[in-house]
Amino acid sequence: MNRPHDVTPPNPWDIIVRVTHWVVAGVVVANALFTKGGGTLHVWLGWIGMAFLAVRLVWGIVGSPEARFAAFPPRPIAALSHVNRVLRGRVREYPSHNPAGAMMIYVLWLSLATVMGTGLVLTKGATPWEIGRQQAAVAAGDWSALATDGGEEGSGGEKASGIVGEIHQIGGNLLIVLAVIHLAGVALESVRLQRNLVRPMIRATRD
Ligand code: HEM
Ligand code: HEM
Repeated sequence: MNRPHDVTPPNPWDIIVRVTHWVVAGVVVANALFTKGGGTLHVWLGWIGMAFLAVRLVWGIVGSPEARFAAFPPRPIAALSHVNRVLRGRVREYPSHNPAGAMMIYVLWLSLATVMGTGLVLTKGATPWEIGRQQAAVAAGDWSALATDGGEEGSGGEKASGIVGEIHQIGGNLLIVLAVIHLAGVALESVRLQRNLVRPMIRATRD
């Protein structure tokens, strides 16, 4: 059996990992920074993000060996010693995500689940089609159509909505902070390994 540092991560990552990564990342950036919270586009993107995240999580059980959760279990102590080694310039290879990357990935997934779950609570599970119809009706002056707490801020609607809205909003902003730390980790690891870690996340062919 290989010891962890005898092998390198996949190059490229499989198609499911690559596609779900960039769709979910795009949804986070768009929804945290550019779309109107609770608007039809926000909810559409949120649902697309949920679908791709669900696919990735199922892939963590049935997918390619290096994409499975078993290939990168959460190991906080190993994560700390990995960071320590990287800072001292002594990097080691792993067959999947390194232990520090793995911890960050689980924190990202937990935050994503929290944000998406609270989003569903805020919209009372209404589908993007229903939200679109409700908001079109509200825009036409029919307030009785409004079934969400995340209504039309700025056009006379109610601003959502207590603690769940707070958790959703803070979680959305936290995701951006985590993504910046994630990016810094990827950059540092790439420098130390003298290998671009982003390319296997994008390209379908080996370097
Ligand atoms: C990763 C995906 C998501 C991120 C990063 C995100 C982020 C945010 C942020 C930062 C706000 C506050 C915006 C503001 O105050 O202007 C917000 C509001 C809102 N989001 Fe999301 N969101 C996501 C997914 C979802 C989903 C899946 C739903 C519904 C199914 C949803 C429903 C809402 C609603 C109803 C509001 C309005 C809440 C309010 O007015 O306080 N979001 N979102
Ligand atoms: C909000 C934005 C982002 C989120 C939520 C996010 C989340 C994640 C997640 C969950 C993984 C694990 C992939 C998997 O196994 O399915 C991952 C890996 C990765 N991400 Fe991101 N990501 C974001 C942005 C970015 C950006 C902008 C880049 C680069 C420009 C990037 C580069 C990478 C790389 C290279 C890996 C693989 C790390 C490794 O080699 O172990 N990510 N990211």
